[in-house]
Amino acid sequence: MRVLGIETSCDETAASVVALDSGSAPEILSNIVLSQIEEHAAFGGVVPEIAARAHVEALDGIVEAALADSAVSLDEVDAIAATAGPGLVGGLIVGLMTAKAIAAAANKPLIAINHLEGHALTARLTDGLEFPYLVLLVSGGHTQIVAVRGVGDYQRWATTIDDALGEAFDKTAKMLGLPYPGGPNVEKTAATGDASRFAFPRPMKGSAQPDFSFSGLKTAVRQAATAIAPLSDQDVADICASFQAAVADALGDRVARALARFGQEFPGLQNPALVVAGGVAANRTIKATLETLCSEAGFAFVAPPQKLCTDNAAMIAWAGIERLRAGMAGDNAADFVPRSRWPLDSISTPLVGSGRRGAKA
Ligand code: KG4
Ligand code: ZN
Repeated sequence: MRVLGIETSCDETAASVVALDSGSAPEILSNIVLSQIEEHAAFGGVVPEIAARAHVEALDGIVEAALADSAVSLDEVDAIAATAGPGLVGGLIVGLMTAKAIAAAANKPLIAINHLEGHALTARLTDGLEFPYLVLLVSGGHTQIVAVRGVGDYQRWATTIDDALGEAFDKTAKMLGLPYPGGPNVEKTAATGDASRFAFPRPMKGSAQPDFSFSGLKTAVRQAATAIAPLSDQDVADICASFQAAVADALGDRVARALARFGQEFPGLQNPALVVAGGVAANRTIKATLETLCSEAGFAFVAPPQKLCTDNAAMIAWAGIERLRAGMAGDNAADFVPRSRWPLDSISTPLVGSGRRGAKA
């Protein structure tokens, strides 16, 4: 099987060809990602109109490059898989319409993929993980814990009731005058800071449900910064370090609950695993916290390569392959309408206050 994947749900324009031959491990034949970070940096965040226009300009070339790189012709592709949601609707329209056009012209089936499913199944592409396992998705737009039980069989066990974790990093950075994207800059600055100087809140810590909240923490950071302004470089570093420590602590508490629940729901499972996905998973303090938790709870800690943790089209092509071989590709998705909101787990009820979503998915 060879599937061409297309991803345009936020600010990366991406295309990839992934192959699966019987008896061998899946292979990423090409994986092209064009980031729009520079186009949005001046605005301190993703501007949907700029993103949509940039996708229009770049996508054709990116798809051509992905095919050329893979040495697979469109004729040899079994299907086209495209992100159809959730995300910024302008970008979704560009990606899905392009995929529909390619599929129609080449007479190939089209598979509409949920972007979150792409993240959820990546560990099977990279590590050949068996179902079931637990995924922690921490990106600019999502903070979720999902029990992955099979293809199309997902249970969201936790989500954020306000900001996504990456969003909290980005907003904290902005408040402190650090450049966009904030996460990597907060981490870098925190390295020279004193994490014990500010006692920031650990939102939701101790609550029975493993849900997340970060807006109170963000407010606490703002109040602390305002109280001691003007900020010296050391003040900024201390705030970053204290913020990061609070985040790691709160996240660790939430994930520990989910690991315990997983142990109860799947007793006797030989190799339980926690997979991380999303840009925030690059953070070393957070990674170390999760690694410790996993080893204490007897879970394998699976962190796919960063390039496949952040938004990319290989995960979309792979989700297409998973659906094809499970007989779950759906009817040819020529009529599929992009969905800016599309919960992975259709039975999960929205949380109070969870109406907001960041730009990224
Ligand atoms: O997965 P991603 O590239 O895009 C999506 O949101 O899908 O995640 C981007 C987010 C941004 O909010 C960025 O600030 C955050 O991940 N991030 C980090 C780090 N690197 C990226 N947050 C904390 N520490 C990092 N090292
Ligand atoms: Zn994503």
